[in-house]
Amino acid sequence: MGLSRLVSRCNIEPVFSCRKRSDKRWQRNSFLAVSTLALLASVKSIAAEDGAEIAAQRIGSGNPSIGKEKSDAGRCQECHGADGNSSDAKIPNHAGQYAAYLVKQLSDFQSGARRHEIMTIMAEDLSTADMADIGAYFANLKIMQGDGGDNPLGRHLFVNGDQAREIPACVSCHGDSGKGRIADSVIYPVIGGQRKIYLRSQLVNWKLGDRKNSPGGVMNKIAKSLSDDEIEALADYISGL
Ligand code: HEC
Ligand code: HEC
Repeated sequence: MGLSRLVSRCNIEPVFSCRKRSDKRWQRNSFLAVSTLALLASVKSIAAEDGAEIAAQRIGSGNPSIGKEKSDAGRCQECHGADGNSSDAKIPNHAGQYAAYLVKQLSDFQSGARRHEIMTIMAEDLSTADMADIGAYFANLKIMQGDGGDNPLGRHLFVNGDQAREIPACVSCHGDSGKGRIADSVIYPVIGGQRKIYLRSQLVNWKLGDRKNSPGGVMNKIAKSLSDDEIEALADYISGL
């Protein structure tokens, strides 16, 4: 389904040079891999304990080295970058993103809970293990660092929200510098350092209801209260974190 449409799109737009994964290198290599969690546990020093725990939580249950193979063969790296930083402003960075968040999005693309022409096709035949491994690969990379501006309006909303309009502070969920966290089994993705154009498009999508896969519709409620100028300011500030 849709593959010929994707392929023709790939030919028209060079950035979408997205051949579908066809070989099975991943399966062949999977048995070679060592559990990274076990590795992490064994090298964990007392001083680095907190950092290692957060890193392990970020990576989750997948295997980064298998995920490297899978995301290469699956051509994910072609768009999302081998270092997890994309070269196209419309394509999100995954570097240092919580694996569990990436897995959730991939399942949402599969189920149709989140829609995107290309990602629906890219996610189509990934197994749960594929998603976990690919997520682990990207989560294990040096966390995304942005180059946006220090936008005062964006900073104000990010840090304080706007109580009069019942807009909660972004930092209260997305964590310090927007570097994400998992709390009460809800995954708050890394947004600090994400591509500005991508951030803006997602906030607009939440606002218009084109994206509605956040738990309890929380992001739709928040984005509906934001003006276009505020969305622009937030995207600018957050991408600079
Ligand atoms: C042809 C380019 C392209 C390829 C190849 C591609 N992606 Fe994407 N991906 C995108 C774009 C564009 C988006 C943004 C979708 C949107 O705007 O909603 C995206 C979004 C995502 C998201 C959601 C990220 C977030 O922050 O919410 C995940 C997860 C993802 N891709 C994983 C993958 C994986 C895994 C593969 C390989 C199997 C892959 N992508 C291959 C272009 C691509
Ligand atoms: C009450 C908690 C909460 C607050 C407050 C919150 N968010 Fe979110 N946000 C979430 C959750 C949960 C998700 C993940 C949704 C999903 O699973 O698809 C998310 C997702 C996002 C995404 C999509 C990231 C991606 O990679 O696609 C953006 C952008 C975002 N939030 C921006 C903001 C901004 C800007 C603010 C402040 C105005 C904010 N959020 C406040 C909980 C929150």
